[in-house]
Amino acid sequence: MKIAIIGGGPAGLYSAILLKKQRPGAEITVYERNRADDTFGFGVVFSDATLDNFEKYDSPSYRRITQEFAYWDDIAVHFRGTVHRVGGNGFCGCSRRKLLLILQERARELGVTLMFEADIEDEVRFADADLVVLADGINSRFRDRYIEHFQPEVDLRSNVFAWMGSTRPLDAFTFIFQETEWGPFIAHAYQYEAGRSTWIFETDPQTFKRAGLEGLNEKQSADRMAGIFGWFLGGHQLLTNRSMWRNFPMIRSKRWVKDNMVLLGDAKATAHFSIGSGTKLAMEDAIALADAMQRAPTVDAALRQYEDGRREEVEKTQHAADVSLVWFEHVDRFWDFDPVQFAFGVMTRAKAITYDNLTLRAPDFVSEVDKAFAKQVRAKGFDVDVEKPVAPMFQPLRLREMELANRAVVSPMCMYSAKEGVPGDFHLVHYGSRAIGGAGLIFTEMTCVGRDARITPGCTGLWNDEQEAAWRRIVDFVHVNSAAKICLQLGHAGRKGATKLMWDGMDRPLEEGGWDVLSASPIPYFPDSQVPREMDRAAMDAVKAAFVQAAERGEACGFDMLELHSAHGYLLASFISPLTNQRSDAYGGSLANRLRFPIEVFEALRAAWPSHKPMSVRISATDWAEGGITGDDAVVVARAFAEAGVDLVDVSTGQTVRDAQPVYGRMFQTPFSEQVRNEARVATMCVGNITTSDQVNTILAAGRADLVALARPHLVDPSFTLKAAAWYGAEAVFCPPQYLPGKEQIFRNSVRDRQDFDDLKIKAKPKTRAELKAEATKPLAAE
Ligand SMILES: Cc1cc2nc3c(=O)[nH]c(=O)nc-3n(C[C@H](O)[C@H](O)[C@H](O)COP(=O)(O)OP(=O)(O)OC[C@H]3O[C@@H](n4cnc5c(N)ncnc54)[C@H](O)[C@@H]3O)c2cc1C
Ligand SMILES: Cc1cc2nc3c(=O)[nH]c(=O)nc-3n(C[C@H](O)[C@H](O)[C@H](O)COP(=O)(O)O)c2cc1C
Repeated sequence: MKIAIIGGGPAGLYSAILLKKQRPGAEITVYERNRADDTFGFGVVFSDATLDNFEKYDSPSYRRITQEFAYWDDIAVHFRGTVHRVGGNGFCGCSRRKLLLILQERARELGVTLMFEADIEDEVRFADADLVVLADGINSRFRDRYIEHFQPEVDLRSNVFAWMGSTRPLDAFTFIFQETEWGPFIAHAYQYEAGRSTWIFETDPQTFKRAGLEGLNEKQSADRMAGIFGWFLGGHQLLTNRSMWRNFPMIRSKRWVKDNMVLLGDAKATAHFSIGSGTKLAMEDAIALADAMQRAPTVDAALRQYEDGRREEVEKTQHAADVSLVWFEHVDRFWDFDPVQFAFGVMTRAKAITYDNLTLRAPDFVSEVDKAFAKQVRAKGFDVDVEKPVAPMFQPLRLREMELANRAVVSPMCMYSAKEGVPGDFHLVHYGSRAIGGAGLIFTEMTCVGRDARITPGCTGLWNDEQEAAWRRIVDFVHVNSAAKICLQLGHAGRKGATKLMWDGMDRPLEEGGWDVLSASPIPYFPDSQVPREMDRAAMDAVKAAFVQAAERGEACGFDMLELHSAHGYLLASFISPLTNQRSDAYGGSLANRLRFPIEVFEALRAAWPSHKPMSVRISATDWAEGGITGDDAVVVARAFAEAGVDLVDVSTGQTVRDAQPVYGRMFQTPFSEQVRNEARVATMCVGNITTSDQVNTILAAGRADLVALARPHLVDPSFTLKAAAWYGAEAVFCPPQYLPGKEQIFRNSVRDRQDFDDLKIKAKPKTRAELKAEATKPLAAE
């Protein structure tokens, strides 16, 4: 077998090693345009898990690599004169140059031919090769040559960065967030060998310009960085080596394989440096390719297996890298945060590290985070314990004069079980049991302001006395039997009205018994849905009046709070999104115009709703569709409602158009809440695939939302909050007297369960290499 590998970076060399081990008889050649030792860059990092993989696949190179490594366990975050350190991270750093020399040596030893100063123009010369590995890096000539086939998507990120080195020793992966007269600068730094560390400097394009970095040469920009970070460098030099300022390209390729050619490493996909995974991805690609070549009967089949089997893992890493890079791009959102909360945000930015996970690894740090959170709550006038605070989830919140005992919320959920809009016994039990279950706030399902405002025949309403009496019964039950507050969500279905019950076909038009529907523009939801009537001024006045009357009935029922549903493509949302609003009057066109009617309705409600009671608005912060609402628009929308007196923005997404492409995942809507909260400076509630109290605490402690709503988890577990309270030892959680023995038992058992769980986790976690090294070098205690 003949294998040609273009590119002698980590991907090319490691694939040569693994393939040669597998097929000693194969003729394998690596073509590298540079000389053997003129590699660029400073250090690379690997996690313990990645090193375990290397050990399994090629122990000689693993041993040489690890001999050369610098190990560290801590991440240190420097911000506004403070430093917070968190241990247990298990990372290693190595010089990129040494790594490549080790891989070259190992490849040679195995019989791979290494051709340096061989700049490959095209692959024609490899016509007789069975396999051509394209490992030619981020600017891959071969990916671009077959651009129509590989279909790479290159997303050039806005921040600029430069890779430098230093002689400054470091004992932790170090993030320095530095305020300057021009704006924020960030340093990501780690040691990779004795006396050498990598320094990646990053800033936003405006700060870059203001700092006069444009047009400076390497030496001049290194001097400028040394000026900014000199207090930390302590006289150590900054070193440069092709350290130009660049924008990071996030690359994703639709295809990785063409005939017998396969893209590996940066050539096929990149991952932002802030999660330190570029070299890891490149070498793990090589492992995946070697595995596929081992298993599959033909090269063709192997390449297919490689692409199919590896894609998900790469995309997961890229997703984590995306989330992380966005955090760094928007660091100004958190710039006025308490430093410990800021550090918590840095640690938890990419979802893998959470509140509970940090509690296990760095209990003092989390205790400081809890205290800072409690202090903020105390500053709002609550008499909470700041020395031994409860977890953020159990801290109270005040909106106008409404006080919530905790931050867990039952999200609005249609039950499709009302008769002519009247909530019945099912609703009483449903809302009642969730209130007893301990959540601080319960939302009603979307309750419609008129018969023709309903989504389905099963939706609840509040337009007549019978409905008002039925809701009052529910509200009274909640108030008498729980500590929960209850919020009425009012809505109008718009073009999604006159549709079937959820279990008969979500959003599908009713076959009989339907009613006429309204919308901002006459665009049906499905092609076969009813064409809605474009609202004229008279219809707007009628709808506004219906909202006000329903709010007045809501007040008569005793609801504590009112939410205006302006999300999910329903009537008011249909005005906000350009995808559903194509009007040419004062209610269409610019976002300000599109907001006009929803704001008008909100203002009318605000005037009718008692001034001591809070109001929220639910928005879709993105349509997940080309040309639709984006996170930046959502900030404008939130500001407009805030000016009109909203107390909380309930940040949901999507459901505007049928062909949207949402990116689901754990806590997938939380970034929008974070953006709205910290850019529009308004309290937010986040929601969406949040399933654990650990996630609730992580979100709250990092300042990504003020309340956290859970919908589906509450369907199967009304006592979600009570159970979480037991886990976190939040004794003050409400429990009706009838259920107290149950509360006592679960609190008692939770202490033991939690201890067992923590022990198990600690036991199951192998020691990091840094811990093992520290143990091995520890002097023996004197007898
Ligand atoms: C200049 C530079 C500095 C870096 N510094 C660091 C760092 O300090 N720390 C870190 O963690 N990561 C660093 N990275 C990023 C990280 O190393 C990459 O994610 C990782 O190297 C990807 O490995 P790869 O093998 O896919 O690509 P690369 O390491 O980029 O290797 C590709 C190789 O292909 C060669 N090549 C390209 N075209 C041709 C051609 N037509 N013919 C022959 N050879 C060709 C290139 O010379 C290069 O050696 C750096 C990358 C570069 C390019
Ligand atoms: C059965 C069901 C009914 C829903 N009904 C409503 C509703 O009436 N009003 C609303 O704003 N959102 C409604 N939603 C959306 C939820 O409030 C929530 O935003 C969404 O389910 C995501 O949260 P989750 O991942 O915790 O379920 C509904 C969701 C479900 C599962």
